[in-house]
Amino acid sequence: MAVDVLLGLQWGDEGKGKIVDVFTPKYDLIARFQGGPNAGHTLVFDGQKHVLHTIPSGIFNDGCLNLIGNGVVIDPVTLKKEIDQLIALNIPIKERLFVSKKAHIILPTHRLLDAASEKAKGKTKIGSTLKGIGPTYMDKTGRNGLRVGDLLLDDFEKHYNFLLKKHAEILRFYDFEYDLSEMESQFMEGVALIRKLNIVDSEYFINDAIKEGKKILAEGAQGTMLDIDFGSYPFVTSSNTICAGVCTGLGIAPQHIGEVFGIAKAYCTRVGNGPFPTELDDSNGEKLRKIGHEFGATTGRPRRCGWIDIPALKYSIMVNGVTQLILTKVDVLDEFEEIQACTHYKTDGIESDVFPFNIQKQEVIPIYEKIKGWHCSTQEHIPEALNDYIEYLEDKLDVPITYISVGPDRKQMICRENVGSA
Ligand code: GDP
Ligand code: IMO
Ligand code: MG
Repeated sequence: MAVDVLLGLQWGDEGKGKIVDVFTPKYDLIARFQGGPNAGHTLVFDGQKHVLHTIPSGIFNDGCLNLIGNGVVIDPVTLKKEIDQLIALNIPIKERLFVSKKAHIILPTHRLLDAASEKAKGKTKIGSTLKGIGPTYMDKTGRNGLRVGDLLLDDFEKHYNFLLKKHAEILRFYDFEYDLSEMESQFMEGVALIRKLNIVDSEYFINDAIKEGKKILAEGAQGTMLDIDFGSYPFVTSSNTICAGVCTGLGIAPQHIGEVFGIAKAYCTRVGNGPFPTELDDSNGEKLRKIGHEFGATTGRPRRCGWIDIPALKYSIMVNGVTQLILTKVDVLDEFEEIQACTHYKTDGIESDVFPFNIQKQEVIPIYEKIKGWHCSTQEHIPEALNDYIEYLEDKLDVPITYISVGPDRKQMICRENVGSA
């Protein structure tokens, strides 16, 4: 059975958590393949809101297993908090959650290094979530990292102290004060909890599931514009958020990839620093933020808002091989009489829909087309003007838009046509 993939096409927060939750009943296994607690995936059902950071969004469904893959970085402190909250809701974690032996561990000093590095960058800081993501992936590629499997070794503390000493030396170069004691005791509590989880050789676990014909969905974190290779570098995260990351982050071969669901908001947001060509600094931007409740699920920071960016979406669809597009937060545009879509960028006087090397606002000027708003509720049916907008996007992007999301609740979803396996 193929592994379907669901990932973000913009700068994260496209509504991936909600859509995974809606799709979960159709799958046997949901697997996270990259990122870590920088992610904040929101699920809303039965009048309750749940935010997941490291745990896949299938965890609320009985009959569905969840895997944290080798490509994910795990902070034992955050993971323990998440698990404690789920246990309080009677979710049987031991039955539903599996963790890769090869996933890397975020140490308290990785978080300190993240903060120290951001502080030292001053105005040029990335706007990181300060969860220690960058330093942990640096230790992974630098071949210094600790993995979940290492937590099971008798001499784990020796390895931990060795890396801690290294980090303390680096921290000495920064003008940065810290107190590790409280952070370390929380870390050790988290480590003790992870040791009791189902720790698996995840590449065998998932390939066996494929052989057994299980239906698997890989859940992306962040978005394509934050990909370490193809995003708006250096204002990106430190992992491959794109479809290729599924192969390395789970240990599956490319021929096992099935449908690729690309998630995009009907407009665009970004949290953190870095270029954002269609950003609106006016009342429309404010209106999108207010109606869309655009505040980060992990950090609470206000999200920057702007119109949909078609050249960036075309690029994301290309690098991911998207087969179906899911448009979210469509209801947020209900109150607009007119909306806009960026169709091209103007660079040095030349208009193009190619996503350029540099998307700083002084380098690219977005060219917009005005689109008539539907200016009515989308809860009961798809208004004609919205259908026109969807068909306009399908025409520009050359991918079918199979679902639209019209509210945060799992029930607020409209299926346009039954395409593909979900
Ligand atoms: P993720 O990181 O991609 O899972 O997205 P987040 O959870 O960070 O941000 C999406 C936010 O929008 C959350 O607050 C969701 O509850 C909410 N949301 C998701 N889909 C919709 C939708 O269609 N309409 C509205 N109004 N809110 C939505
Ligand atoms: P989900 O999965 C939105 C952004 C940060 C910052 C940059 C680098 O909820 O869509 P990092 O902590 O990774 O070093 O931060 O990436 N960022 C996100 N923005 N949604 C996310 O995840 C994000 N994860 C990281 O704001 O600009
Ligand atoms: Mg989010």
